[in-house]
Amino acid sequence: MPMLDQIDTLFSEAQTEIAAVTDAASLEAARVKFFGRQGQLSQIGESMKTLSKEERPAVGKRLNEVRQTLTAALDERAKTFAAQRDADALAQVDLTLPGTPPVPAGSLHPSTQLLDRAVQIFRRMGFALADGPDIEDEWHCFDALNTPADHPARNEQDTFYLPDGRLLRTHTSTVQIRTMETQAPPVRIIAPGAVYRRDEVDATHLAQFNQFEGLYVDQGVGLADFKGTLEFFFRELFGPGTAVRFRPHFFPFTEPSFEIDVKSAGLRGGQWMEVAGCGMVDPAVFEAVNQKRGDDAYDPEVVSGFAFGFGLDRLTMILTGLPDVRMLVENDVRMLSQFR
Ligand code: DAH
Repeated sequence: MPMLDQIDTLFSEAQTEIAAVTDAASLEAARVKFFGRQGQLSQIGESMKTLSKEERPAVGKRLNEVRQTLTAALDERAKTFAAQRDADALAQVDLTLPGTPPVPAGSLHPSTQLLDRAVQIFRRMGFALADGPDIEDEWHCFDALNTPADHPARNEQDTFYLPDGRLLRTHTSTVQIRTMETQAPPVRIIAPGAVYRRDEVDATHLAQFNQFEGLYVDQGVGLADFKGTLEFFFRELFGPGTAVRFRPHFFPFTEPSFEIDVKSAGLRGGQWMEVAGCGMVDPAVFEAVNQKRGDDAYDPEVVSGFAFGFGLDRLTMILTGLPDVRMLVENDVRMLSQFR
């Protein structure tokens, strides 16, 4: 058969076959059959060597045309199959499903959640946040708070002292003094923060823990404001059915002083729980502040006030039912993820 006829026969054969393929695999088989190294078109190309110089251009031209047409047909079918494959894959995907987050989302620590709530409750009553340093001097931590030099808290057994005589604050009551030093009455502040004690770490003690301090000083602040404010706070926190009682106690910086106990049906089997220390600010504290300020802004004959302090970690344990305070600092996500 003359070579031009061979080419045309092969051309129509290939066109029929390419039109008939049903998937990407058979399309690839057809491509190899005609265009592969051993393919039929390649073989014709090879045998062109045997043609005379005169015949060669016409055959070469035809072969190129056929190649181009068939390549376009192959590409066209390949495109259709690819589009079909994408459509099939998409049909399996429910685009309305939520995505998979690349990193598991964290949540606030239960103590932070409680802190936020406590701050919010006091903010509604007009208290502002105040702050003070963790590294303190003895005057702010003890002397100004009417705590004498022979008080056990000032012992090296109980308090972390730095070589230069400063110390890690043992309570947030220091912020009472720091605030009054720089701010004249009225003062209405809350001061959450870390405190430090040389305690043996066990199920109910950490060497670093968190307190939440409050101070309210103005003209005419009395016991009714004091009780009302704290009762309101603990009912907001523990629920409206919470019973609150003030038990007489002693603190050097308040007079009279109390401990607050609360009782709530859902918490700790409905038993009384000690939750805070508090009292009316001792005039000796005002005198110490006045002396430092060099004025009489906190004249105990003119202003009065109340103060309170509670352990934030203890409240967290009560609210979450955690049995061991160490769990709050172990960073175990199995615990943390239970309190999202
Ligand atoms: N600072 C006390 C403590 O760490 C707690 C406290 C008691 C704070 C009575 C007060 C207060 O403001 O009035 O145990």
